[in-house]
Amino acid sequence: MQKKVQTVSTLLDALPFIKRFYGEIVVIKYGGAAQVDPVLKDRFAQDVVLMSLVGLKPVIVHGGGKSITELSRQLGLESTFKEGLRVTDRQGLRVAEMVLSGEINSEIVSLLNDHGARAMGMSGKDAGSIHAREKTGLGYTGEITEINADVVMRLIHDRFIPVIAPIAASREAGHPGYNINADTAASAIAGALRARKVVFMTDTPGVLDGEGELLHSLTRSEVEALKTSGVIQGGMIPKVDAALHAVEAGVEKAHILDGRIEHALLLEIFTSEGVSTEIVR
Ligand SMILES: Nc1ncnc2c1ncn2[C@@H]1O[C@H](COP(=O)(O)OP(=O)(O)OP(=O)(O)O)[C@@H](O)[C@H]1O
Ligand SMILES: [Mg+2]
Repeated sequence: MQKKVQTVSTLLDALPFIKRFYGEIVVIKYGGAAQVDPVLKDRFAQDVVLMSLVGLKPVIVHGGGKSITELSRQLGLESTFKEGLRVTDRQGLRVAEMVLSGEINSEIVSLLNDHGARAMGMSGKDAGSIHAREKTGLGYTGEITEINADVVMRLIHDRFIPVIAPIAASREAGHPGYNINADTAASAIAGALRARKVVFMTDTPGVLDGEGELLHSLTRSEVEALKTSGVIQGGMIPKVDAALHAVEAGVEKAHILDGRIEHALLLEIFTSEGVSTEIVR
């Protein structure tokens, strides 16, 4: 009996948050270590399904940097990065598309569906949802030129959970398309969908300062200073840029969240425990 009362009280604690976010779109960038551990993957799927069932509208955009690097290595291809962005050649694009669309996307879709969701996989190429051009000097790594959120909106409207691989189409006929940094893609999609929140799930506690302490909240000027001093580097550069871009495009909040914590998503959205770095306007 005591345990049941506890369950009810837990549900009631979540009620104000469910009310606040009911009907709102939340874009979740799923990357980093949360993708590697089978238990965490399962928790992630449970969290997304629960969010959806209580009336939020989750949209998943996933990365896959580690798997792309791993498969490239097995094929004898080198991975190089400039300011945290992968340099992609023609072969590299084939590998990125195979890993992102062929493997990770369908795995996430199956995982969500196994937990009772109606997830639908797609890439930015589908229905021309994301268009890009070359990001100068990065080959087939693209910068987004247009987002066409129509199809994603329809999926959301029909109660599907869209799962989006960050591969974009080109406007040039016959062009194979572009690999897009998944943080950048998530941010652009969140802006186009007028999402309430964008959450970047990764493999660190959030953005850390020079002493390795978690920074709870950051503004643009603080982010710029941390980039200049080299405290923010590698894959964290596109992530903080994407978070800033999203909030400046009207998304209310962007969070950089530790995907290695079980149920990190539910903790962040349905409790007052802030377990992330929040990027504010
Ligand atoms: N100041 C910082 N605080 C926290 N992490 C940082 C910082 N500077 C650099 N990093 C690095 O950023 C990494 C996260 O970005 P990374 O691109 O590797 O992962 P991801 O974006 O979650 O995954 P994917 O790129 O596959 O989508 C961390 O693992 C850490 O090594
Ligand atoms: Mg990354």
